[in-house]
Amino acid sequence: MAFASGKGGTGKSFLATNAAIALHRQGKRVVLVDCDFGLANAHLLLGVMPQRTLQHLFEGAVPAEALLTPTPFGPRLVAGGSGIASLCELDVRHMQMLGAALQRFALDCDVLLLDCAAGLSPQALVTVLGAQHVVLVTNPEIAALTDAYALIKCLARQPEPPVVHLAVNRVTQPGLGRAAFERLGQVSRRFVGCELHYLGELPEDSAVMQRRLGQPPLSVSHPTCPISLSIEALLAELSPLANGLSAHPQPQPRLATKWAQLLRRW
Ligand SMILES: Nc1ncnc2c1ncn2[C@@H]1O[C@H](COP(=O)(O)OP(=O)(O)OP(=O)(O)O)[C@@H](O)[C@H]1O
Ligand SMILES: [Mg+2]
Repeated sequence: MAFASGKGGTGKSFLATNAAIALHRQGKRVVLVDCDFGLANAHLLLGVMPQRTLQHLFEGAVPAEALLTPTPFGPRLVAGGSGIASLCELDVRHMQMLGAALQRFALDCDVLLLDCAAGLSPQALVTVLGAQHVVLVTNPEIAALTDAYALIKCLARQPEPPVVHLAVNRVTQPGLGRAAFERLGQVSRRFVGCELHYLGELPEDSAVMQRRLGQPPLSVSHPTCPISLSIEALLAELSPLANGLSAHPQPQPRLATKWAQLLRRW
């Protein structure tokens, strides 16, 4: 499952890390891969400082399994590198390595979450398209919705478009998320034939930004606050459409074939 957005800063990493924790609490084996190559930050949100990151994988220095880092809150993390310019210029060979690593991780977990980079770069698009389900995270404002539509257009053009679910974050009044979905859903259906599925809205909450380094994520410290409950509601909405958020019997051949097809069009 990929957490994606057109515009940056819509809340993908916040949502991906807290969803990973919520799924772990439901008894799932969860691996979160930070695919925001070069600008990764999921490790900070999950309170770990991994020795190894995807940079080491791309350099051929370590096998995929060596990247799996346990976190204090349950999910295992594969960290992306941060502040490393070369990670912003990945080529097909690197993406092949990543695809092979994702297959390995998928064998050993129930849910594989990808915290993707914002935007339409080839490396962002391939990671998003590698997923079976895309959680498109937007904010209700016009700039974020416009960029969300740009990403939907790119995804809808693919021969095998993924299922796109919409989560509207930083909503200041109840109902704004649904209203944003109605508008975006209508335009996507009409102009690119993409049927969006609405997952729900998450409130604007100053506690999200006030988290300091070393503090546990809100799903851990405040599991019953409105935003933590809205993440659980979002996962409950997604679950019946995504195989109960359980492992597929044979994920690896499907992923391998799909990844190879994606890279042929790189
Ligand atoms: N519901 C919310 N209420 C208040 N602040 C929020 C909320 N969700 C996210 N934020 C804040 O918005 C900022 C961006 O969040 P986050 O890093 O999760 O976005 P992102 O989509 O992963 O960004 P990027 O595209 O740079 O990877 C952070 O400072 C975060 O604390
Ligand atoms: Mg992020």
